[in-house]
Amino acid sequence: MTDTYHIPAQLLANANRVVVFTGAGVSAESGIPTFRGRLSGLWERFEPSQLATPDAFMADPELVWGWYEWRRTLVCNAKPNAAHIAIAELAARVPRLTVVTQNVDDLHERAGSAGVLHLHGSLNAPRCFDCGASFPDAAMKPQEPDAGRRLAPPRCQHCSGMIRPGVVWFGESLPEQVFARAFEEASQCDLLLSIGTSGLVQPAAQIPALALAAGASVVHINPENVDSRMQNAYNLTGAAGEVMPELLRRAFSGSP
Ligand code: OAD
Repeated sequence: MTDTYHIPAQLLANANRVVVFTGAGVSAESGIPTFRGRLSGLWERFEPSQLATPDAFMADPELVWGWYEWRRTLVCNAKPNAAHIAIAELAARVPRLTVVTQNVDDLHERAGSAGVLHLHGSLNAPRCFDCGASFPDAAMKPQEPDAGRRLAPPRCQHCSGMIRPGVVWFGESLPEQVFARAFEEASQCDLLLSIGTSGLVQPAAQIPALALAAGASVVHINPENVDSRMQNAYNLTGAAGEVMPELLRRAFSGSP
């Protein structure tokens, strides 16, 4: 039987610059729903055009704010899982590690990762829809809403505009500097671990391909097999919370 960990573990043990690129799947074992899972994916139950666009917010701010507050509550009540913890530990094992995430939760930070690049913004960074001022009470206590409960968004102190979630919505640009740094790191790394992402949302989805094109190796960590016919692309098939600790063990404990 082939040992699927052998090459990825060797690559990790020998890498100087590593990028960890994560999607919703890395937080799945913390109980945070992914977007596209057949059974529990958010976009199976909710319509993105009614919740995740600027037009949706203008049309029904209470619906949109309530939905994001529900998601923020889920995150506040969740804990980092073994994958987040292994990624944070990896920072001490490789010369340079950059964590790039599509996730709007803060579970990487709560596991101990520093300098995380959030391509799609953060649930903890609400700002004014009109003037862009950040909302002063970013650590506001979640109000325990349920998924469909409407909540009026707070008002901006400066211009009394509505406060919106600090996430990137469909049709909006990614934060320019964050995106530029992520691209730079991906194009200069030796190894990119792509963990728990369907790779369907652009432009974030270009990041693993960019690393491959620049000569890095890419390891996909996902319970579903990701197309890895490209040279230098590998699959570790399984849940991130199981695969990541095992990958670190294989790479750094000296066992084969
Ligand atoms: P998706 O929901 O599209 O994909 C989640 C991926 O995680 C799938 O490939 C699953 O097979 C995988 N997965 C599920 N459980 C896992 C586990 N325990 N361990 C590892 N992988 C697991 O989520 P993203 O790819 O993050 O954008 O979605 C990208 C973007 O689409 C999100 O950032 C969001 C969404 O619309 C915006 O909101 C702008």
